[in-house]
Amino acid sequence: MTTTAAPRPTSVSKSSLRERFSEVRHTSLRITEGLSPEDQILQSMPEASPTKWHLAHTTWFFETFILLPHLPSYKPFDARYKYLFNSYYKQLGAHPYRGSRGLMSRPSLQQVHAYRDYVERALLTFFDEAGDDVLELIELGLNHEQQHQELILTDIKHALWSSPLRAECDCLPEPATPAARLSWIDIEGGIYSIGREGSGFAFDNEGPRHEVLLQPFRMASRPITNAEYLEFMQDGGYRRPELWLSDGWDTICAQHCEAPLYWEHRNDGSWWQFAMNGIKPLNPAEPVCHVSFYEVDAYARWSGARLPAEAEWEVAAARMPSRGTFLEDFAFHPQVARGEGHQQMFGDVWEWTASPYIAYPGFQPAAGLIGEYNGKFMCNQMVLRGGSCATPSSHIRASYRNFFPPQARWQFSGIRLAR
Ligand SMILES: [Fe+2]
Repeated sequence: MTTTAAPRPTSVSKSSLRERFSEVRHTSLRITEGLSPEDQILQSMPEASPTKWHLAHTTWFFETFILLPHLPSYKPFDARYKYLFNSYYKQLGAHPYRGSRGLMSRPSLQQVHAYRDYVERALLTFFDEAGDDVLELIELGLNHEQQHQELILTDIKHALWSSPLRAECDCLPEPATPAARLSWIDIEGGIYSIGREGSGFAFDNEGPRHEVLLQPFRMASRPITNAEYLEFMQDGGYRRPELWLSDGWDTICAQHCEAPLYWEHRNDGSWWQFAMNGIKPLNPAEPVCHVSFYEVDAYARWSGARLPAEAEWEVAAARMPSRGTFLEDFAFHPQVARGEGHQQMFGDVWEWTASPYIAYPGFQPAAGLIGEYNGKFMCNQMVLRGGSCATPSSHIRASYRNFFPPQARWQFSGIRLAR
């Protein structure tokens, strides 16, 4: 996700924010500690960034938006980093081309870790004298870093999958547990309010809160499974143009797509899937993952259902607040939905909605630099909701709007249907 947001009043005390600062910064290192320095420089496509770049850029954010403008005595760790680790803030001047981040053999990983330590020490010292405006920016910086934690995982998964020496999983065979039965939850029509609520942190694109009119609808109790998606494939799903949007059909033809990303068809007819711990047999009961908006849209049409609008998803999430797998579970893979009733509204897989990523009525980006975080991306992207197995659990809420271009498949994105 490329998001960022304008700050708003912070709701947490200084001491709990300080604790959260240390916890979030530590988590970024913990999810990367099993990767070699060579792994951490890989960039497998322009949309995905190297782990080392993510570790430096999240630190650059604290240095650029907090320490340099608010602490006159602060000396930058390296003045060149202002340019080097700027992602897309045009008001700060030039920045490297996104697709060339994998060429940054320098600074070394060791130097990036030293940069992290240096900025952390400066910020922790600054905490005591920080006013509310700075605390709001620190909270924003932590949410920004959590977004990049998910990107670290999705990007390294793509890089490791792209390696000629793709690992085989040495894990034990998984038990053949069936997924929970799919049922439909009725939601009555009416006027509902959606958007950020309360005093907790939210990105600017989640507001203003506003009313929407919804017709009665039904929401699927859980995400679609691999087995259900295989039925679509076996019914010629990828060969039937009548099921696809025009752009979607052109995209799958150009890219020769015949299955979700990371799936592999072997000569004996079996399907395998690349997971974070290597290639393993496809588990039919797991939620289907790494599908584009186009694939999800075609699947929905084939099944006789549709995708929810983002407002429907948010209203349903209030009725079905079920939580599944998050980053803290360290599975980095969606898990089988078990039990009765609604499942995995939050966690496991991001759920594509039918809604384009546009501004809510009355949306105003923040003034200045930080206004570049969100608003300028409101074009040619679709909204996803609910978080995934790579999302920190403290980072997701019902009003959270993630967004990606409709052809994107390397995020942990799946399908929840509506009717
Ligand atoms: Fe960023």
